[in-house]
Amino acid sequence: RSSKPAMFNSEHLAIQKIHQHPLPMIHVDAFLYDDDFVDSLCEEGKMSRNYCTECGSYKTASLEFISHSFSLMELKFLYQHVLPDLTGKVVVDVGSRLGAVLFAGYLYSSASQLYGVEMNADFCQLQEMTITKYKFIDRIKVVHADICTQASLLQKADVVVMNNVFEYFLDRLEQVRAWEFIACNVRKRGLLLITVPSLKESLSKLQTDIQLSQWVEEIQLNYDVYMEKEVDREALEQIHLYKIL
Ligand SMILES: C[S@@+](CC[C@H](N)C(=O)[O-])C[C@H]1O[C@@H](n2cnc3c(N)ncnc32)[C@H](O)[C@@H]1O
Repeated sequence: RSSKPAMFNSEHLAIQKIHQHPLPMIHVDAFLYDDDFVDSLCEEGKMSRNYCTECGSYKTASLEFISHSFSLMELKFLYQHVLPDLTGKVVVDVGSRLGAVLFAGYLYSSASQLYGVEMNADFCQLQEMTITKYKFIDRIKVVHADICTQASLLQKADVVVMNNVFEYFLDRLEQVRAWEFIACNVRKRGLLLITVPSLKESLSKLQTDIQLSQWVEEIQLNYDVYMEKEVDREALEQIHLYKIL
């Protein structure tokens, strides 16, 4: 019903959540597989963007695609158009997975330190291998932990990135606990918080005590920076920037 390239068997809850999703959904990591590559797999018949709603009939519907990493285009947008000069700044990626946000931050920004916090041990190991291979060790550090144990790291951050971090990986109660921990510890005035989707959307599905208007101010982004036809504007529009009050 759903395929899950770029997932580990150790992600028990995430895999369980995929199976509970009401409609067929395909998990394709946008950092590893760009749209052109997915198109070529579809052309070769190795993958499909559609599924048959009634076996044997010609009625088809589009499959929902979900990525668990930012794509290269989103990462460039983030570092070249959304964030200011990061010289001397500390970036924390909550749920760093393959390390895409960290590696792009190393190459496209002057951030002094880029921390990734990832609860899955397999993904931490994978990130460590890339850090060693490409000699990123001077500015990137990966912490294998639940973000809810990292209060002091969050308190010293200047930029916090949260890309679809909790919804697919934690049950509802854990999501509430994690968001409340974030709202308690991401408090430095002027800190920039990047989220996908918006905070309003993420929190609307949960019962939390977080008062958004007292915590953050949203900064409107210009999503029209790329004129190329192949740019996925819808994906860019999911990226939101907030300043901590
Ligand atoms: C959608 S991926 C984000 C990937 C990456 N930040 C990017 O943008 O390319 C979310 C990741 O968050 C991790 N995660 C979820 N809840 C977490 C928690 N409480 N503490 C640390 N990591 C968590 C998951 O294991 C998953 O790898």
